Order: sequence, then C-alpha cells, then structure tokens
Amino acid sequence: MGTKFNICDFILFGGHGDLAFRKLMPALYHLCKDEYVGSDTRIITVSRRNISLKEHIELVKSKLIEYIDDFDETFFDRFKKQIFLVHVDLSQNNTFQNLKSILDEFPQRHRINYLSTSPNFFGQICQSLDHWKLITENTRVVLEKPLGKDLKSSRELNEKVLNYFKEDQIYRIDHYLGKDTVQNILALRFSNIFFLPLWNANHIDHVQITVSESVGVEGRWDYYNNYGALRDMIQNHLMQLLCLIAMEPPCSIDANSIRDEKVKVLRSFREMSDEDIKEKTVRAQYIAGSSEGQSVPGYLDGDLKQSDTETFAAIRVDIDNWRWNNVPFYIRSGKRMQKRNSEIVIQFKSIPHSIFDKEKSSISANSLVITLQPNESIQLKLMNKVPGLSENMKLQQVDLELNSPQKEERKPDAYERLILDVIKANATLFMRLDEVEEAWKWADTILDGWKEDLTPMKKYTAGSGGPSAAIQIIAKDGRNWNDE
Ligand code: BG6
Repeated sequence: MGTKFNICDFILFGGHGDLAFRKLMPALYHLCKDEYVGSDTRIITVSRRNISLKEHIELVKSKLIEYIDDFDETFFDRFKKQIFLVHVDLSQNNTFQNLKSILDEFPQRHRINYLSTSPNFFGQICQSLDHWKLITENTRVVLEKPLGKDLKSSRELNEKVLNYFKEDQIYRIDHYLGKDTVQNILALRFSNIFFLPLWNANHIDHVQITVSESVGVEGRWDYYNNYGALRDMIQNHLMQLLCLIAMEPPCSIDANSIRDEKVKVLRSFREMSDEDIKEKTVRAQYIAGSSEGQSVPGYLDGDLKQSDTETFAAIRVDIDNWRWNNVPFYIRSGKRMQKRNSEIVIQFKSIPHSIFDKEKSSISANSLVITLQPNESIQLKLMNKVPGLSENMKLQQVDLELNSPQKEERKPDAYERLILDVIKANATLFMRLDEVEEAWKWADTILDGWKEDLTPMKKYTAGSGGPSAAIQIIAKDGRNWNDE
C-alpha cells in the first residue's frame, strides 16, 4: 500500500473538539490500522488543556471506543505510540515554541496542519506557524468550514491564510466530496459512453438535489443560528454536488482540471433578480412536532424567542450555458425532516411517442437516482415488460442497480478519503478559492433578498416533509419532488 510514502507529522489544532474525536481521530486510527498511513506518522494534538500525554491517550481511547464499532485493543497499543500532545495557547504566540521543539525533530517531514478550530483562530495560527518557521515547502494546511458567512468574510478569512501559505498548500474541506458515491458521480459520468449523449438539455428534463436530515439543531445553537441552511449546507455541500453533475468533462482527473470545470458551472448560474428570489426560493423554520416517535421542540422554542435563521431552504437554480439550457436544478435541504435522505435525481425526458399506449400514461420517464444517505446506491429506473402472457403488453418500472456488490467490509468514512488525500498532496477533492468565492457570490444575492424579506419565512412541522411552499416551487413548473 505504499505506506512508506505516507509518513507525516499530522498536527491537529482543536484536537480536543467534537469533530476531532468524532471524525478525525477515528479516520486516522483506521488509516493507520489499514496501513494506508505509515506507523512512523505522528499525530500531534495541539491543546491548551492541562492534561498529561497519558491522560490524553486515555481520552482518545475512550472516544474511539465510543465512536467506532471495530475498536481493536491490540492495535491501539501500537497506535498510541503515534499519539503526541503539545500544550499551546493559540492566542499566545510564545507557546508555539512547544510545537516547534517537537516538529524540529524531523525538519524534512511533510507536515499537515489540520485547523479544526473556530475560524477566528485561523489567522493567528498561521501567523505563529510562520513566526516559528514551521511552514516549509512540504507543509499543508487543512481548513474546516465555515469558511466565512458571506463573500466578504470569506475573502478576509482566506487572505489571512494566504499571507502565509500558497494556494496549493491550502486544502479546504467539504466532507461531501469524500463520500464514495459522490466520487462515483465522476466515474459514472466519465467512464461510461452510455451517458455521454444523454447528459444535456436534449434529454434531461430537470435535476433534483435533496439533503434532508432528521436531526434538529439542539446543542448547536451558537453555531447554527449564525448560519442557517443556505450557509451551512447549500453554499457548500449542495453546490459541490450540483457542480459534479453539471460540469463539462475535465481534460484529466487532476485537481485543477476538475476545479476549473466546477468553477465554470458556478459562473454560469443565472443571476437572481428580486422577482426570482420571490419566485424561486423558499425558506422555513421547523415548529414543534415529532421525530422518530419522540416529541421534539420547534426551532424557536426554548430560550431563543426570535430568529430569522432558516432551518430549511429550497431553491430553483438555472444554469445559463448550452448544456443546461432550460433544465432547472431544484435543490433543498432541511433539518428535522421526516427522514434522513440525501439524493440526486436526474430526471430524463419522456419518450417522444408511445407505441404501447396512446396516452403514454403507463410509461414513466427514465431517471437516475443517486442516493448518498442513509444508504449509498445508484439506480437507473427503466421500463420493462411485466413477464407473462397477458393480452396487452404490460409495462412496469424496474430499478437497475449500478453499484458493484458490496463486500462485507467496513465502509471508509469520508474523512478517511480526504485525510489520506491531504497526506498524499492530492487536492482534487478540495475546494479552490475561486469556487468558494463564486458560491458565496450566488448565496449572497439570495441572503440579501431574504434580509429584505422578499421571501417570507414559512413554517413546517418537525418530522414532516418540509413546508408546502417547497412543493409549490417545483409543482408550478409541472414537476414533483421524488418523495414517494
Ligand atoms: C455539516 C453541517 O457540514 O454537515 C451539519 O454543518 C450537517 O449541520 C452535516 O448536519 C451533515 O453531514 P452528513 O455527512 O451527516 O450528511
């Protein structure tokens, strides 16, 4: 597996935070266990907490036991030798000397600085790394979202990092790009001749992208109430999915070829007028209801009485280019929805003429359904004859499963793919600055319109399918969400 190439110092800022314990440590544990990452790699947690290395290792162990299903005591006894702790107070430049002492032991090593902290610290961390001469040619920095709240704050944040790191040393994470099925979109589109002639406005009627979650935002108020569905999910995760579906074939799989094509899609978005914002966007908050059989409070229940933060958004996106002329992309995302479900539906046009039935009523148009959650799958919905001797030929829709049979293996988490790629310096699945900025430009127009109340805030009951306005947004174009 080439592990000798995958040795680095992995420096985890915010290493005692929720993401670090829930996702990053488990990902590193599995990458080391499966020998994708060499056992000489050091995982250096940076923390100002006054605990010893021994206590830190115990803490990591207990969190791994909590968050992974396949904890292996024997392997952990080896893995723990890779775990290090340095005491640094991010706001005190002089405390970075502790980090310098440990990193200087291997000056030539590739260094990955994973900033899993509040973005408020990004600038300070980079400045101190530079001050202590800890940024070498082989040093990379990984930025976790949120990367700003709008174009202006995103630019300011990125500039702080760009003062010390070159663009090709910066890895902006969107964990959706690490999901296997999302990468499969590239495989599906660009390794099958079958889709090539069909993937355009001549044959596709519209595209739907849904990311709905059954969880609410309890416990994450401080963060979420400052962001909302458009900033938290749509500007990043759903935009990335949309770009992979809509982009032109890149000339190769390398990072910049793919990112060049994605950014062209974002630049082709039709600008939204005030009228468009009224007609083509929906925002809503959930009210008390029930989720998985339990009563749950509404978004405005509890201490917070007032908020204009949306927990659901649906938008019709129009792309002004040759391929997608008059093919709307309907996207929606919400918290406290009926079920956890993330899917992309490519809805093809109906056949031009039916020989079976003059009304064409028994023939459903083909669709390709790419499901990311709760289970990953890709299904092509085709018409087929019902077997048997009935007089009139009867047709039925059948699903052609495009997935390769799953081996009974553990499925790697998105963070494993992404961390491994950073270690290998492969930036294909990370967002380039211009992509982030284009996505913010588009989101800002909508957010400005919402601030002026062009789109009224709707309500939906927790545990429901979302506000009726979201049904309207697609129904008025004579279409339906794929919610059967
Ligand atoms: C995060 C958002 O980026 O993605 C969360 O901040 C959201 O609000 C999460 O719950 C969803 O990720 P996944 O992989 O569970 O769909």
